[in-house]
Amino acid sequence: MSILDKVVAAVTPPESNEQRAEARAKARNAAHDGDWLSLVLDHHEQIEAAFAAVKGAKDAGSRINAQRRLGILLTGHSIAEETVIYPALVKAGEQAHSTKAYTEQSAAKVQMGLLEDLDPLSQYYLDKLEHIRGAVAHHVYEEEGNWFLDLQAKLPPADQAKITFRYKEEFSRYTTNGEGADADAVPPAIAGSRRSEGIISTKTRN
Ligand SMILES: [Fe+2]
Repeated sequence: MSILDKVVAAVTPPESNEQRAEARAKARNAAHDGDWLSLVLDHHEQIEAAFAAVKGAKDAGSRINAQRRLGILLTGHSIAEETVIYPALVKAGEQAHSTKAYTEQSAAKVQMGLLEDLDPLSQYYLDKLEHIRGAVAHHVYEEEGNWFLDLQAKLPPADQAKITFRYKEEFSRYTTNGEGADADAVPPAIAGSRRSEGIISTKTRN
């Protein structure tokens, strides 16, 4: 059994539905309209609804369609987190949370890939789907319960604005074939960053 398989196999969410709801309500309370945290919470809710749609599909065709929609949401959301939010965790000194987050999302990608090869109307399929759903629910609870609230508390406003911009850009790039992402758009500058210094010095030379 690979490490990634073990991560998924070990998941029996230790937290209750009430604890999950409480964590979400607290995270919603901390989020501001349109900021990175509110977008992440919206996408977590959409992912939960997409899991339910796959399980509830009555025939093979509609189940595969629902699975494809779930896959697009999961991949778009995870790419945006892995490209933008988890690096911000490292910057905020939360290396352990970041490493765990990458590992858990890689495990989910592996299992979603394997799900594609199963008969969509079989019990094997439903068992694997439930396993992935449980692993994702636990991962979401970790993010909403404290990882992201800690991140929000630690990052300065300029960094918050930048990760909101970049999270939206990466999610949109995957979920809308890039139509919602502007390749020439420049993210908000981060105070004191080498990147902003570089932009300023280039402009000065011109
Ligand atoms: Fe997430």
